[in-house]
Amino acid sequence: MGSSEGKVAFISGVARGQGRSHAVRLATQGADIIGVDICADIASINYPLATREELDETVALVEATGRRMLGTVADVRDFDQVRTAIDTGVAEFGRLDIVCANAGIAPMSFEQAPIEQELAQWGDVIGVNLSGAFHVTRAAIPHLIAGGRGGAIVLTSSTAGLVGMGSVEGGGLGYAASKHGIVGIMRVLANILAPHSIRVNTVHPTAVNTMMAVNPAMMDWVQNHPESGGPHLMNPMPVALVEPEDISAAVAFLASDEARYITGVTLPVDAGFCNKL
Ligand SMILES: NC(=O)c1ccc[n+]([C@@H]2O[C@H](COP(=O)([O-])OP(=O)(O)OC[C@H]3O[C@@H](n4cnc5c(N)ncnc54)[C@H](O)[C@@H]3O)[C@@H](O)[C@H]2O)c1
Repeated sequence: MGSSEGKVAFISGVARGQGRSHAVRLATQGADIIGVDICADIASINYPLATREELDETVALVEATGRRMLGTVADVRDFDQVRTAIDTGVAEFGRLDIVCANAGIAPMSFEQAPIEQELAQWGDVIGVNLSGAFHVTRAAIPHLIAGGRGGAIVLTSSTAGLVGMGSVEGGGLGYAASKHGIVGIMRVLANILAPHSIRVNTVHPTAVNTMMAVNPAMMDWVQNHPESGGPHLMNPMPVALVEPEDISAAVAFLASDEARYITGVTLPVDAGFCNKL
């Protein structure tokens, strides 16, 4: 029996990368999964987002563990889409216990890019990463409270949500602002939801081996920002990129009863990155 046996987890950005890994990990431990992904590109973002085929593959991977998954195409910027996906999933599976606000984008722009592109990137990164996290928590919390069994919310921030790392342009600065903002959401909700035994924490990954970190636009950005890239992006531990499963292990712990009195915590999974600064 896994530590999530009989529970139901909601995950945003579930089609690939860390979201898919969280889904498979929690399903392996016994949870059914409600998941959403945009399954479309966003014009201002210079790398591809997930596809419908990738979402279907995640559903197949979860079902291969013997658990159920409801995977829906939804944009976390749209509250009604998020709420409908969560309400539908809870109606089908009967409860909600774990919430992972994981969907995110990292738009990288350059000094020579037109200001219109930067402004669009700022709006999109705040919309997806910060407003998206709010929409997920706002739609999920009534179900967690109604269940009367407590619960766990894990919000995915970043090392960029703990230290001053980014760029002057709208994309990189907006990413850092959004990831710091997620900590604000977490701290307030942790206090408000504690009487319900609903715990709220953030995870802060260093660079992870997913499309977000491993794409040509990101490589160009690192090269064009020697003040932020190069040695400054290196982890003290001998690993350049951690794997999605490394973040899933932390998420699974925070979501489990093993962490039943851990709330309001910012947990880096960063191979020592933040500690060196
Ligand atoms: N990869 C890294 O180096 C890294 C480091 C620190 C934090 N993070 C954070 O981890 C989280 C997961 O990212 P990842 O590394 O798996 O990257 P990823 O790009 O592989 O996955 C992100 C997923 O979110 C989905 N998504 C994007 N916008 C969406 C929207 N509006 N609505 C619904 N779904 C949307 C994408 O389609 C994709 O499936 C993000 O919040 C990211 O900011 C990533």
